[in-house]
Order: sequence, then C-alpha cells, then structure tokens
Amino acid sequence: MSSTTQVQQIQAIDASSFHGDKSKIYGRDSNGRLVLAGDDTDSAYPHFLPVWDPNEHYEPLTEFKFSDPGLRADPSLPNLFSKLNTDLKVKSLTPKFGSEVRGIQLSELTSEGKDELALFVAKRGVVVFREQDLKDKPIDWLLAYSSHFGRNHIHPTSGAPLDHPEVHLVYRSKTEAASENTFFQDHVSSVAWHSDVTYEKQPPGTTFLAILDGPESGGDTIFADTQEAYNRLSEAFRQRLHGLEVFHSGVAQANAARNSGGVVRREPVENFHPLIREHPVTKKNAIFVNQQFSRHIKDLKREESDAILGFLYDFLAKSADLQVRASWEPGTVVVWDNRRSVHSALVDWSEAGSSRHAFRLTPQAERPYETEPQSV
Ligand SMILES: [Fe+2]
Repeated sequence: MSSTTQVQQIQAIDASSFHGDKSKIYGRDSNGRLVLAGDDTDSAYPHFLPVWDPNEHYEPLTEFKFSDPGLRADPSLPNLFSKLNTDLKVKSLTPKFGSEVRGIQLSELTSEGKDELALFVAKRGVVVFREQDLKDKPIDWLLAYSSHFGRNHIHPTSGAPLDHPEVHLVYRSKTEAASENTFFQDHVSSVAWHSDVTYEKQPPGTTFLAILDGPESGGDTIFADTQEAYNRLSEAFRQRLHGLEVFHSGVAQANAARNSGGVVRREPVENFHPLIREHPVTKKNAIFVNQQFSRHIKDLKREESDAILGFLYDFLAKSADLQVRASWEPGTVVVWDNRRSVHSALVDWSEAGSSRHAFRLTPQAERPYETEPQSV
C-alpha cells in the first residue's frame, strides 16, 4: 500500500474529523457551524457534542517551556496509591506495558498525586482507570486539570465542544453505526497505528481519553509499546537508527479535512523529530515513528527510508507481544504516554443505536530529543 493510500485509509476512519457524506448526521446552525442534527443530538452529554466552526482560525503554535510533572514525583507514589486506600486495585495488563486501576478517582488527585500519575503512566505506557467521574466535571475544570501535564493542544481539524477548542472529540454517531459501514466495503481492517499529532514541534505526552457513550462491546483501543520495541532491536540496528530524523507532516490531514467539507482551524505544520527519542522522566529510549504522520527519514534515499519505516511499522503493528487492548466501560478513562507508545481505535461494531463518544485532553510536552545511544 502506498503511503498516500495509507493516509487516505486512516483519514477515512478518523472519527475525529469531518469526512464523507454526513449530510444525514450534520447540519449547519444559524452561525454556519457544522453541528449534529436529527437523532444524534440525543446525548446524555450534549455539551460534549462536536461542532466545527469554519470561522475559527488560530495562529501557529509557539514554543513553550515544558517540565514534565513526573520529574517532581515521589517514586513510591504515596499520593496516587495511598496505603490507606483499601479499595485500590492495580493490575498489570502485561508484565512491562499497561495497567488497570480501580478504586481511585483521578479527579480527586492533589498536585502531588498528579505528578505521580505522570510518572506512573510514563513507566507503564498506558493505564486504564475504571469508574471515573471526569465526564461529569465542567469542561473548564477538565482543562485546568489537564494543564497540569502540559499546554492543552488545540487540534487543527477535529470537532470540539462549542467554545472549547482544546477538547478533542472522538465521535461516531448512532446513524453511522446503524447504517451500512461503508469503510469495510473496500478495506479489510480499521487498524491505523499512530501517535497523536506528532507533526507538532512539541507533541503530546501524558494524554487522557474519557468515554461518554459507547457500544456494549467493541470500539476498544489497542496500544503498542515503542520502548520495549526499541529494547528488542539488535545493538547494531539500534546504532543505525540513532541519529536519524523523521519528517512528520500534518498536511495530508488538513487536506483531507478540507476536501471533505471539514474545517482547518490552524494551518498544518511539518517538523523533523529524532527516530529514537529519550523519555525525559524515565530516561528510556523509544522508537518514534508514526504511520499516520511520518513521511521519510532525513538524508536517506526513498527506498532506504521506506524500508526502515516499513520494517518499524510492521514490527509494531504485528507484535502482539508488545501490545495491550484497552476496553471501555462506562466511566473508563485511559491515560497513556504518546512518547513511548502508538495506538489505534478499532471500528468493529455496528449495533443500531450505539454511538461512540469520547473526549481527549491532550497536553503538549517537550520537543522530542535524543541523547547518546544507551545499552539496555
Ligand atoms: Fe489517537
């Protein structure tokens, strides 16, 4: 599959952007904004429904100083996992990657608890928190909460709650689910591995996704461990990868939004990032490639770049022994570290009357950097 086709496939299933013929689902309000219409306005969380405002434009992002809150954390995590909390249950989903936590409320964490959350998520890669009440908090409160972890990112193309562009919405309507799934008419899989918005100069670190509504089963999110993937490589191949830079581009995403009637709120950007990046808290290396936004490796010829990127994409995509699968229950919040993982939504349900609705809080982190090669 060519890289262009791959981008088109990913865009076609990216529920966060406005694509295709959605005239049955969306209409325009008196201000010209694209809004949901018909049965899909029936939501328990109407203030989280997506709006696309063609009049909304933002200036290019500026650089900001970032210090990871995980650096301040007490490594024994006394505020996150209090010894006095008899309800606490922490389960590893796999030995090295992914955890599930019950018995704490993320909303009640102190500043120190949030620092420890950043550290815990950096160490585990992805953490599934059950029975959370973040969905019931006011949006301004949520944005203040997530700003502890970095500057809230405004997505250039996704739908957002009215007047809250910093909230990224994942939305697949009841009407879409109930109608024939046109995507699978010419595709065999909805898997689209990526890390979020890596075209930005400072891509996100600790990232939150909270479910508002979803099918009884299906719509899981899969994650792959790019840190353990780095560790699996031979020393010789690691040495070849160190020092390489990858070109990440947001242009195709913006074009896809424009071509399908969506909006582009900020002009797309392109940046080079190191192929191997160090995590600022754990100091561990991870492979940093992104099948959605990476285009080529600097200074390599096309076939050389395609071969290396293709190998890394396949390695991450096919290695079930590097992956976990996060299921969604009412109240689930998944927190992951975009610097040391890739993920994909799964579009595998079609029950009539089931929408999938989630909101993402996406704090931006440091500009990716690399240090000297390290032994593991
Ligand atoms: Fe994503």
